[in-house]
Amino acid sequence: MSIINNSIQKAVALLNQDEVIAIPTETVYGLAGNIFSPKAIASIFSIKERPSFNPLIVHIKSIESLPSIAREIPEKAMLLANAFWPGPLTMVLKKQPQIPDSVTAGKDTVAVRVPNHKVTLSLLEQLDFPLAAPSANPFGSISPTQAVHVAHYFENKLPMILDGGSCERGIESTIIGFDDGEPILYRLGSLAIEDLEAIIGPLKTIVHDEKAPPAPGMLSRHYAPNTTTYLTDTISADVAKFANQRVGVLAFKQEVQNTSICAQEVLSVSGSLLEAASGLYAALHRLDEKNLDVILAERFPDSGLGKAINDRLQRATKK
Ligand code: TXA
Ligand code: MG
Repeated sequence: MSIINNSIQKAVALLNQDEVIAIPTETVYGLAGNIFSPKAIASIFSIKERPSFNPLIVHIKSIESLPSIAREIPEKAMLLANAFWPGPLTMVLKKQPQIPDSVTAGKDTVAVRVPNHKVTLSLLEQLDFPLAAPSANPFGSISPTQAVHVAHYFENKLPMILDGGSCERGIESTIIGFDDGEPILYRLGSLAIEDLEAIIGPLKTIVHDEKAPPAPGMLSRHYAPNTTTYLTDTISADVAKFANQRVGVLAFKQEVQNTSICAQEVLSVSGSLLEAASGLYAALHRLDEKNLDVILAERFPDSGLGKAINDRLQRATKK
């Protein structure tokens, strides 16, 4: 059997044996293991080549499991959990003592969410433990939104990739922390700020030190293709500047007309930010495989999911 398959039963068996497998979520694929298995947690860090100071997100099957993971849950956290779980919202809360330090990188807090994917919800239902899962990509590179992306990165390192199709949302979860019960944005993601603010009012954005970000997903270079990438407000003019090179274009809704372009991806002809977000990483994966000299990405409107798309594109450009 191929390592890519859709047997939930096999996934359950492997996870019960302390193995690490890839699982689908509505945001991106994750590298999942039993939070209570030191062996599985150590494997996640080593497969991903992730620094041990970078904590993992705990995935639970429903809001009812939250009190077993987190303590002193603020009122606004409950409002958000009720509004958006299952869904692409991760909350950083004070951890229960039984949550292993290896999962939280020694922090007193734990990141937790209920993923909205029927395959993984059914998997979680059949397990006696939550799953720790970072995105299933080597540290710093583009997150996978299809089982084949995971295979491309980790074919020989995983016993199984549980196939759940293409991830519907396509960008990682939005991460919120709390300070004295008040929410703070740690990472932009698939849940728009406007939607969060509609439930709990204005969100603070953390002002962080680049060398010690609150969530290491906020490191300035992250989610990056191998190909040099630029984010631009003037894409047509910039394409002309690279006339003698192999140029790839990542556009929002309209093709850039220039015969010197080698490869072009248009994310949503109808101008839907949801559609653009869902196809963003797959388009970057395809462009990155074309042996281009440069990828020029068009800047998105700075509202709704456009903010998260710009955030990821910005990080993809850093060297
Ligand atoms: O959509 C997602 O969130 C995906 C899917 C698989 O659920 N997961 C994901 O995990 O993006 P990862 O590990 O690639 O990113 C999680 C981020 C990291 O930047 C990590 O530093 C931060 O969450 N994080 C985890 N626990 C934390 C904590 N206790 N305090 C602050 N940040 C934390
Ligand atoms: Mg990640």
